[in-house]
Amino acid sequence: KEHGETKTDIVTITNHILMQQQQHAGATGDLSIVINAVTASCKWISNCVRKAELMNVIGLTGGKNVQQESVQKLDILSNEIMINMLKSSGRTAVLVSEEDDQAIFVEDNQRGHYCLAFDPLDGSSNIDCGVSIGTIFGIYHVLDTERKGELKDILRSGKDMVAAGYCITLDPNIGEFLLTHPKMRIGKKKIYSVNEGNAHTFDPAVKSYVHSLKFPPPNFEGKFTPYSARYVGSMVSDVHRTLLYGGVFMYPGGKLRMLYECFPMALIIEAAGGKASNGRQRMLDLLPPSIHARSGIFLGNKEEVEKIEELYRKLD
Ligand code: AHG
Ligand code: MN
Ligand code: MN
Ligand code: MN
Repeated sequence: KEHGETKTDIVTITNHILMQQQQHAGATGDLSIVINAVTASCKWISNCVRKAELMNVIGLTGGKNVQQESVQKLDILSNEIMINMLKSSGRTAVLVSEEDDQAIFVEDNQRGHYCLAFDPLDGSSNIDCGVSIGTIFGIYHVLDTERKGELKDILRSGKDMVAAGYCITLDPNIGEFLLTHPKMRIGKKKIYSVNEGNAHTFDPAVKSYVHSLKFPPPNFEGKFTPYSARYVGSMVSDVHRTLLYGGVFMYPGGKLRMLYECFPMALIIEAAGGKASNGRQRMLDLLPPSIHARSGIFLGNKEEVEKIEELYRKLD
């Protein structure tokens, strides 16, 4: 290799999706178009986020107000990007966003067969300090292609999703998302991730579980090996780390939204061999009562989530 160690045999997301699509006889290509619209939105959002950080650095004396405003602006801007790109893909019917109180029903002339629930910018309270943030999305296919999209096309349990994803990092060198883990399996490290400042609100099962991680019984050599604590405060980052390194991510209080935070991450974690639960039931089996409905969530290594479920059964 004359150019050193630069890896040039890469697979871009566009390539990957096209190759996957070709393996399905009868695929219309509609889902690929939807995913393409999401990808393009994420590139654009990522650009806006980078520019905003630069502006904050320049305006360091600007005070709290400006920072809060810019955070809000980025949430709204990201939302507009997602909505317009998805509408103009001509393949969507119903859109649910964290930033819109009501579901959006796509006009007849742009309507397609897919419904998306998304968090345009997750972890937006972290923007000003440069911590990783991103986008989360879940995709459903309408129940009936013969009629207009309705709320019931998206107000469905997570297991009905046809795909889900999150976006966190783009290769800045070529401006593309690359395939890095062709057969992603969740890691095995002993890490727990939770906002422990909320400990007073935890159910007895969660209190007992977290305690057991910090004060494990000594092993046969008399050594203590407690879990490591890691908490970014952006779900995308905390789940991304859990996927790569392993462990367990928890938000027991029920702050996170089912449709566009819990379900997509649950699908991804399950696909990688992990488990996601609300403590009592599999996350993907739950039915959201409303589009912004929230749930407690525990996701990560199977053994960890099973320990939590076991404690719920015992202590409920
Ligand atoms: P969002 O920025 O989309 O409103 O989501 C915030 C969520 C999520 O990113 C994160 O896991 C959680 O809020 C952090 O909450 P705490 O600050 O309560 O720990
Ligand atoms: Mn979020
Ligand atoms: Mn958000
Ligand atoms: Mn928010």
